[in-house]
Amino acid sequence: MVTMQTAESSSKSAGLSPRLHALGRIERPSLLWTPEVERATASIYERVRDVIPPVEWPFHAPYIKAINELKRERNAVILAHNYQTPEIFHGVADIVGDSLQLARKATEVEADIIVQCGVHFMAETSKLLNPEKTILIPDSRAGCSLAASITGADVRLLKQRYPGVPVVTYVNSSADVKAETDVCCTSSNAVQIVESLGVDRVIFLPDEYLGKYVATQTKVKLILWKGHCEVHERFTGEELRAYREADPTVQIIAHPECPPDVLAEADFTGSTAHMIDWVKTRKPARVVMVTECSMASNVSAEVPDVEFVKPCNLCPHMKRITLPKILDSLLNLTEEVTIDPAIAGRARASVERMIALGR
Ligand code: 13P
Ligand code: SF4
Repeated sequence: MVTMQTAESSSKSAGLSPRLHALGRIERPSLLWTPEVERATASIYERVRDVIPPVEWPFHAPYIKAINELKRERNAVILAHNYQTPEIFHGVADIVGDSLQLARKATEVEADIIVQCGVHFMAETSKLLNPEKTILIPDSRAGCSLAASITGADVRLLKQRYPGVPVVTYVNSSADVKAETDVCCTSSNAVQIVESLGVDRVIFLPDEYLGKYVATQTKVKLILWKGHCEVHERFTGEELRAYREADPTVQIIAHPECPPDVLAEADFTGSTAHMIDWVKTRKPARVVMVTECSMASNVSAEVPDVEFVKPCNLCPHMKRITLPKILDSLLNLTEEVTIDPAIAGRARASVERMIALGR
């Protein structure tokens, strides 16, 4: 039931845009574990029973039921990155994927509201591609060490130092940095984007290790920045060698945000979506997924015969997104993502060029 704004709720909604004010508030649903909730969420639990213990389900299920009902009432969809926890990924997400898949799908969404379950740069990318829609992020503090490593002013200085050299920027960056960029890329398409420019030198920002990996796949010379992912830089070649020594048949697959000595030990390197495809297609008996820990839980529900060896590095930013915060986001229509109009147009162009190149 949609209720109109009340005096009691006005202070919490002080930051809402006039459009969101007009949408009104919805009463907080009951979050009790009841036989009705159990029935309504039983098919979802079937999918995650190997990764969520039965004792935890009564805490998640009332939120899952409430969020799925609220999405319909609000005409909202949830976009979730592969690193979200299984109760979000399997329980409430409408669209899941890597950064490129989420950016592409964001252009096809018909709903009025997108709730971005991922980190802030992903929500900004959705807003750039959907300026007319309401984009919500359940916790705007969900950042990214790569995005935080560089500013628009840094890129302007680099462009002064290397005049005429095009800038390719990983989508793990702020809109401010994207506005100084010729074309964005993700870990799925970085080599293709770099080569598409037809030049022999490119400024590649901000992930040094992704850049080093791309450099092994192309003749284009890359000018790099020293940004790192705080999750992937923690893996070491030594720990992977220990897994291999313990079981020489184990398969090791890694995200290109890992340092070069880690990638040197990997049987396959690819974006989160490419890693998932690899596991689903090859179905190895045992695999080490060298990336954020939740992804193995999410994919294991779909490949029950594969054993995942889990070095569990969690992304603290991705983990800020929780079911209670998603519920609050849909109830209160918070936190709305906005982009400074002075940079939005140029930032959008760099993302749209990437999407056009992939078509
Ligand atoms: P993907 O584009 O591979 O999903 O990577 C995004 C990310 O943040 C990895 O840490
Ligand atoms: Fe950023 Fe690393 Fe977290 Fe991905 S895993 S969002 S790159 S900090």
